[in-house]
Amino acid sequence: MNVWGNKLKLSIFGESHGAGVGIVVDGLPAGEPIDAELTAAEMLRRAPGRNDVSTPRREADEVEILSGLLEGKTTGSPICGVIRNGDARSGDYGSALRPGHADWTALLKYGGHADMRGGGHFSGRLTAPLVFAGSMAKQVLSRRGVEVYARIASVGGVEDAENVNGIEAYRAISRRDFPSPPRSEPAMREAILAAGRDGDSIGGVIEAVAFGLPGGLGEPSLGSMESEIASLLFSVPAVKGVEFGGGFRLSAMRGSEANDPLYIDGGVIKSRTNRNGGVLGGITNGMPLAVRVAIKPTPSIAREQESVDAATMREITAAAKGRHDPCIAPRAVPVIEACLALCALDCMLGKC
Ligand SMILES: Cc1cc2nc3c(=O)[nH]c(=O)nc-3n(C[C@H](O)[C@H](O)[C@H](O)COP(=O)(O)O)c2cc1C
Repeated sequence: MNVWGNKLKLSIFGESHGAGVGIVVDGLPAGEPIDAELTAAEMLRRAPGRNDVSTPRREADEVEILSGLLEGKTTGSPICGVIRNGDARSGDYGSALRPGHADWTALLKYGGHADMRGGGHFSGRLTAPLVFAGSMAKQVLSRRGVEVYARIASVGGVEDAENVNGIEAYRAISRRDFPSPPRSEPAMREAILAAGRDGDSIGGVIEAVAFGLPGGLGEPSLGSMESEIASLLFSVPAVKGVEFGGGFRLSAMRGSEANDPLYIDGGVIKSRTNRNGGVLGGITNGMPLAVRVAIKPTPSIAREQESVDAATMREITAAAKGRHDPCIAPRAVPVIEACLALCALDCMLGKC
C-alpha cells in the first residue's frame, strides 16, 4: 500500500505531467491553527526554478485545500491539498529508459501502463505534497516545543566548511536560500554549477535535526524511532542512505569514542555528546534527534549513456532530455525537514 503512518496517515497522489499532485493527511488533531503564509513560504523553499542551481522548470506550487481546514483551523477530518502542474513539457520524454531513474522498474511493475511523462508518480515533484503536510506538522509541533531544521552537509563530496551546532545555527541556515552555512555556499554552489556545465550531476548529504523532542518516544525493536523515520525518508526519491547520529562513522570508532557520556543537568539526565543521534534502543533520549540522508546524483543527465529503448527493445546510447536539477540536495532540504517533522508528530500523537 502506498500509505504511510500510524496516528497520522499520509497518501500521496499525482504525476509530474498530469493535472497535478497532492496529498491526503488524516489524523491531525482538530482545532489546530494552520497559517497559510507559513505554508506558502515552505512550498517556495522546495519549488523549482528559483535559482541557478535548480531546474529551470517554473511552478507556482500553490496548494489548493479541498478539505479538512475551515477558517484557518483543522477540522479533524482528512486534509486534502492539491498542487496543480503548470509547466510540463512532456515532449522531452520518449521511450528511452533513463539509467538511474525509475523508468525501468515502472515498466516491470506496471507493464508500460504507468504515466511516466516527466517521471510520472516517481518524479521529485511528488515531494511538493510532503512539504505541504510537513509545514502543517511543523506548526503543530512548534506549539508543543519541537522545532525541526535541515541543512546541506555536503554536495559532490564538498563538505561543510564549519561545524553547525545548536538550534540557533540551524534556524538561521534554514532561512537561507541555499541552506548551508554562508562560508560553505560558494564551494558547494560551484561544484553544482560545474557538474551542470559538464552535462552531469552530483549528489549530497542532508542533515536534519529535531530539537525539543521529549524522551521516551518510539518502541523497542520493530517499532523503533529509527525505523519509523527511515521508512518515510526512504520514500523520498533519490534517497539512498539514512544514518542516525554518527551512523556509519561509528563503526570505525572505539566504544570510548562512540559512547555519549552522561551527566545530570537540573535533575535531568543528558549526554555530553550526541553521537547516537538522540535515539537509544529505538527510543528518544531527549537529546536532539539527528539524522543524515544520502541523496544520489540526479539520474537524468545530458551525457550519452548506454540504455534501452522500451518501445523497440533495442540497446541504444542516449542522453536525457528535459529540465533537471544538476543536484537534488538543495531542493530536497525542506522535504527531509518535512519528513522528520511528520515522523516526530506521528510519534508524539501516538506516544509511540
Ligand atoms: C526534490 C527532488 C527533485 C528531483 N529532481 C529530479 C530531476 O530533475 N531529474 C531526475 O532525473 N530525477 C530527479 N529526482 C530524483 C528521481 O525522482 C529519482 O531518482 C527516481 O525516481 C528514482 O528513484 P530512486 O533514486 O529513489 O531509486 C528528484 C528528486 C527529488 C527529491
